[in-house]
This record gives sequence, C-alpha cells and structure tokens, in this order.
Amino acid sequence: MTRKFLFRPLYLLIFPTIMAFTVSVDHARAAEVPPYLNPHMPEDTRVRDLLSRMTLDEKIGQMAQADSGAVADPADVQKYALGAMLSGGNSKPLENNPAAWLKMVNEYQSWALKTRLKIPLLYGIDAVHGHNDVVGTVIFPHNIGQGATRDAALLEKAEHITALEMAGTGIRWSFAPCLAVAQDERWGRTYESFGQAPELVSAMAAAAVKGFQGTQLSDRPDSILACAKHFVGDGGTLNGLDEGDTVCDEATLRKLFLPPYRAAIRAGVESIMVSYSSWNGDKMHGNKHLLTGVLKQELGFKGFLVSDDAGIDQLSPDYKVAVESAINAGLDMAMIPRGPGQPNSYVVFIQDLKDLVAEGNVKPTRINDAVSRILRVKFEMGLFEHPYTGDPALAAAIGSPAHRQVARQCVRESLVLLKNERHTLPLSKKIKHLVVVGEAADDLGIQCGGWTVDWQSRPGEVTTGGTTILAAIRHAVSPETQVTYSPGANGITNADAVIAVVGELPYAEWHGDAASLGLDPGDAALVEQAKSSGAPVTTILLSGRPLILGPALDNSDAFIAAWLPGTEGQGVADVLFGDYKPTGKLPREWPRSMDQAAANDMTGEPLFPFGFGLTF
Ligand code: BGC
Repeated sequence: MTRKFLFRPLYLLIFPTIMAFTVSVDHARAAEVPPYLNPHMPEDTRVRDLLSRMTLDEKIGQMAQADSGAVADPADVQKYALGAMLSGGNSKPLENNPAAWLKMVNEYQSWALKTRLKIPLLYGIDAVHGHNDVVGTVIFPHNIGQGATRDAALLEKAEHITALEMAGTGIRWSFAPCLAVAQDERWGRTYESFGQAPELVSAMAAAAVKGFQGTQLSDRPDSILACAKHFVGDGGTLNGLDEGDTVCDEATLRKLFLPPYRAAIRAGVESIMVSYSSWNGDKMHGNKHLLTGVLKQELGFKGFLVSDDAGIDQLSPDYKVAVESAINAGLDMAMIPRGPGQPNSYVVFIQDLKDLVAEGNVKPTRINDAVSRILRVKFEMGLFEHPYTGDPALAAAIGSPAHRQVARQCVRESLVLLKNERHTLPLSKKIKHLVVVGEAADDLGIQCGGWTVDWQSRPGEVTTGGTTILAAIRHAVSPETQVTYSPGANGITNADAVIAVVGELPYAEWHGDAASLGLDPGDAALVEQAKSSGAPVTTILLSGRPLILGPALDNSDAFIAAWLPGTEGQGVADVLFGDYKPTGKLPREWPRSMDQAAANDMTGEPLFPFGFGLTF
C-alpha cells in the first residue's frame, strides 16, 4: 500500500529540502536532530533519549488519556501535554461521517505537535465489531457470532478490514478485542465474548490481534494498535453482574481467564485494558500481583496497561489514594472521561500524580517505566514520523462492497442451525409465496446490537448503510416469488413458508444485565401465530446470547441462532436459500431453563451443547 500523508508537519516537509542542498549542510543538519526524532535509531535509544529530555509534567501528561467529550478546549492537549485521547461510546464529532472524524482527530494531533517535544497523541476508539462508531462503516457480527464461525482466519481478515476503515479516519488504536471468557450469560456483555471456552477465545484472540496490528505493530497506516480487554476475569463475575466480583482460586482464574491474554501477547498485542471487575473482592485496577507480577513479569507483556473508563475511581472515594494504588499496581495510562472543573478530571489526575511523586508515594522509576512503555509503542507505530493519517484511498474504501463482502461471509459462517425438520431449509428461491414476520426482520438497529453508532444503540434506522434481513430475502428470491412482509404476523394466508425474525433489543454493558432471559412474550406469540398458518416456519433469533426458547422452538420447523450479525443481512439469506450450507457451531451451551442458566452448571444436559450446529 502506498502511504500518502496529507498533513505532515512542516519540519518533515522542509527537512528533506534542506538536506538536498549540500552534503555538509546535510551533516550539520543531521547533527541537530535529537536521537528521538531520528527514525534510524533503535527504538530503545529513542525512548531513553526522549525520556531524558522530559519534565515530570510532560511524563505524567503521557499517562493521561482524555475523552474528547471532556476536552472543552482542544488547546488542553498542548497545555497538559496529554499523551492520548479517546472517543468513548457517545463522544463524536458534530457531524458523524468519516471526513469529520479525520478532521477532528487531526486537529487534536496538531495541538499535541505544538508541545515542546512534539510528542504525538495516540487516539483510541471502541472498534469492537467494525469501526462501529462511524456512520458509513461496515458492521461485523459481534464477537459471539465470530466465535460461532470457529474461523480464526476469517476473523483476522475482518479485523484487518476494521483496521483499514479506522486508518481512513485517522484513528490508530482500537479497544479490541474483548477477551472475556463469559461464563454466565446473564452478563450484559456476553455478546462481546467469543465464547465460554478459553481455547476458543484464545484462538480468536491471536487472530484478532494480527488482524489489527499485522504480523507486528508497525508504521503502516493500517497497523492499528490492538487492546486486549478486560484484564482479567471480566466474564466470570458472580451472577453475571457487570463490573462485579469473580470469586475463584488463582488456579481457576489462570485456567479459565488467562490463556487468551497469553495468546494475545504471543501475537504481539501492545496494549491491554484493565477490568472494572474484582477478584475475590479486590478491584483489578489495584491488583499489583496480577497487573505487574503476572502480566508484565511472568507473561512478559512489553506494551502498556490502560485503565477502563474512570476505572481508577472505583478504588477509593479518595481519588488521590485511588491513583496511587492503580499506578503502583502497574497501571501505565488512565482513561479519564471528565474534564476541567469536574471531579477526578484529567487535570486532577495529573496534579494528584505529580503530588504523589513529590511526596515519594509513587517512585520516579514507576513513572519512567510507564512512560517508556507508552513511548515505545508510539515509536513502533511511526507516529513521530507520520502523526497524521488520512490517505484518501483508505477513506474512499470505508464501507466498500469489498469490505462488506467479508462481513457477509462472517455472517453466513456465524449462523447456527439449531433445528431443521420436514426439510424446511434450504428454501427454494422459486417459492411462490413467502411471508416474513417480525419487526426485527427490517431493523438494522436490532440486527447490529449495542456499540453501533451509539454506545447503547437503538432499534430502527441506525443511519449507517446496510441490508436488513428482509431486504436480503427480497433480493435473493426469483422475480416470480411474492414476498409479503407482515411485522405483526396478521392474517397470513396462502403462505408456502413463513420466516419469523425475533430477538433482543440493543443494549451495552450493564444495561444488558438480565436476571431472566426468556424470549419476549410478544415474540413467542408471533412464532405461534406463524405456526397457526400451517406453513413451515423458520425462526431466526437475533440475540447477544442464548435465550430460553420455550414453545417457540416447538412452534418452529427450522430454527437459526443468528446472534447480532451487523449490517450485512445477505449472509442470512445465503443460508436460508442454500447458497451456503450452515457451518456455525455454538460458542456456548444453550440452557433449557433459566434455572439451569442461573445455576451456571450445564451438567444436567443443556438444550444444545457447546459446539452444536446442524447443516443440510
Ligand atoms: C468499557 C470499555 C470501553 C471503554 C471506552 C468502558 O465503559 O468497559 O470496554 O473500551 O468504556 O469506551
């Protein structure tokens, strides 16, 4: 790929011209360039050189990551020498389109380059199923669906497409992949987990990291810093409570939740996010044994550790005490959603940490370690040489047919066929009269789930392009086929087959925690009504986790778990009409009853076991 950097800083444009004049000028000029600005120097030398030039304020600035929604004045990036920024789930430019994102990120970067040492910013975002905050990007299935594909090579491709789309908006850091090994599906983040088995999550972890970063993190614009999250045990909390407590001995913690991190580190991941959750009552953000002892020392993690959003704040009501314990536990960067004038803002974090160093409660060596880790990543990414991205070719490819094609493949491979009686599937494309029922059949918002354009997302138009399942069905059948859409399944007559699309409404994080996971009664009634038409019924379930199906399973002749497939509904049609024979396998056991799900013990035979999936 050719690199075209539209907005190189002035010194990088002027410098080569001067160098061309004479050899002696060349030498003289080269001698003036500090080692840290010389890309030919080894990274360690550059880190040491830069560190030796930095004041304590500049160092601590590198350890602060401010949310764009909290930075009222972009000049704060320069004023506080901030090292990183992010767009949290709801922080975005006024207009949501790729060009506006690029402009916003590059503007913040221009402020970072006004600092004395011109240390570039690292900008992060939750690109967790595609570059999902940005309107017009392709949205992939959420991780639970990717786990169902069992296709690590395909996931690597998908994350590389996400990386390309991110690079088109100037963002080089993704808070993904989520490596939760979700044990209890009552947890609202179950769909962010590739599955309930550490082996499955580990295989997907390595693929995702390579998809984002490439074989190693580099200065290619599409080499995106991956962030494995949330370390560790986020998917093991009691009763599936988000940000709750994972209660187990260390051997169990290591066996269930650590392997994906080992795999991600082997694959070269350079940032890891700490979990809000606790382990046996102790908050992970303050756990020195796990953050420093296990992750950095034992597993040899060389990148940097970032907190979850305001994750430090949960350590103590006294913020300064909280900062002290997190940084001393091994945290390198604090993600901070609050700005000046607010409690626990980035201004307060910087001041508190400075005071802690002055008082001797945080050692300068700990600061130097944290800052060295952050700087080394920035050097590896070539940010000093290319602080601005914005290749028009990358921007033009956002949401392109080629990118959507990969997502469509993910969708068709992610579908798990749970039941297929009376040879209901595949349907003939020449079927005379097909009736489609259920609001979810024509609803991109439900199809994509949480973390789509907005943090929580919502049903309905998500303003981003895509193909609903209904549109895909209409497109797939022959011109002679009559397709009737009846959202409420009213008055179905003369149907040769009925397709019912039902499922969960969008949610994210703790908003999705649920004590009861039964199929919505309205959905159950819809399937029953479809059944009463006498035509064979295929039910497609859109959900972030297995639901308790009740009679809906019996009332369906065929049943597909389609998870949260994203914008490419054609992947569902590919399976319905037999262009693709189902290969998806359950990434988690499917409980028979809520009691069984709540007991989190499937020894009493689940409805469908882990790995189940039919084909035709
Ligand atoms: C979530 C993280 C996310 C962060 C930044 C937090 O609430 O737990 O997964 O990366 O917000 O948006």
